[in-house]
Amino acid sequence: GIPKLHEVLQGCFDIGAAVNPRTIARSGELIAYHYNSLTAENEMKFASLHPSEEEYTFEEADRIADFARSKGMRMRGHTLVWHNQTPDWLFQDRNGGLVGRGELFARMKSHIDTVVKRYKNSVYCWDVVNEVIADEGDELLRQSKWTAIAGEDFISKAFEYAHEADPNALLFYNDYNESHPIKREKIYALVKSLRERDVPIHGVGLQAHWNLYDPGLDDIRSAIERYASLGLKLHVTELDVSMFEFGDRRTDLTEPTERMIELQIERYAQIFKLFREYKDVIDAVTFWGAADDYTWLDDFPVRGRKNWPLLFDEKHRPKPSFWKVVEGA
Ligand code: XIL
Repeated sequence: GIPKLHEVLQGCFDIGAAVNPRTIARSGELIAYHYNSLTAENEMKFASLHPSEEEYTFEEADRIADFARSKGMRMRGHTLVWHNQTPDWLFQDRNGGLVGRGELFARMKSHIDTVVKRYKNSVYCWDVVNEVIADEGDELLRQSKWTAIAGEDFISKAFEYAHEADPNALLFYNDYNESHPIKREKIYALVKSLRERDVPIHGVGLQAHWNLYDPGLDDIRSAIERYASLGLKLHVTELDVSMFEFGDRRTDLTEPTERMIELQIERYAQIFKLFREYKDVIDAVTFWGAADDYTWLDDFPVRGRKNWPLLFDEKHRPKPSFWKVVEGA
């Protein structure tokens, strides 16, 4: 039979997949077979759970949590505070202007408290704050409605509220371009300052939306070492290996080229070899999807362009990359 990926890597780290109700319906068997951890792809985001102030919509998130429980899988919670997929009402006062900082904190606390408590028996760790570091320039933080209203204090407050709601949950800061040297240093500086102020933070999430060439292995290694030097846990939270470089807008391919396939096999082998070297600090590796029949990269950054970033093909068969990862373990 086909080895189960999470069993192959048992003793190194959990193996997770981001899922949604459609992928569970279509690939539930594959998901329960190879992965021992789940992340809701969209269903636990603010806009999904709390579309208006008076209304919570838990149905889809609950179904994912029920599936995880029924299969004995762990769950990572994603995400409590972000600039995307967050409803406008959160930032607005009655007249449509920006709400005051005290009121924003009260709304954030109430959201975090409700959500974290609801899932405390399913979710063992939360991406509390997602993507607040600026990609470009000298600025530390990305400008958003959060910073416009509350400066930078919303970050530490989010961790404090989450910790109060569930003192047992592991709390993560999560970001992309995490292996880029300039952004790496900014993420490091933010997390270090949270630690120095005794903010309850337990880990750094490396999203790991990578491609065949970028980032280089040396940069990935440096990022792992830098974050690990803070004495925190690391989770790889959203791994995929896109067949296209970010600026590549080609739409002509209906299947990956031989060259792409070869490069991806080698890339996955190297990535997992590196992860295994750092198994004492990396506790979980989650893919942002289960198999190539559905991936968010089919729409991002080029709408409607197929991509093949995962270890299982469109028919849920293990790809050569899968076997390379298994062989290396
Ligand atoms: C993506 C989902 O995969 C898409 O379905 C959705 O349209 C947009 O968000 N970083 C994150 C994830 O932290 O929440 C994002 O997920 C991908 C990038």
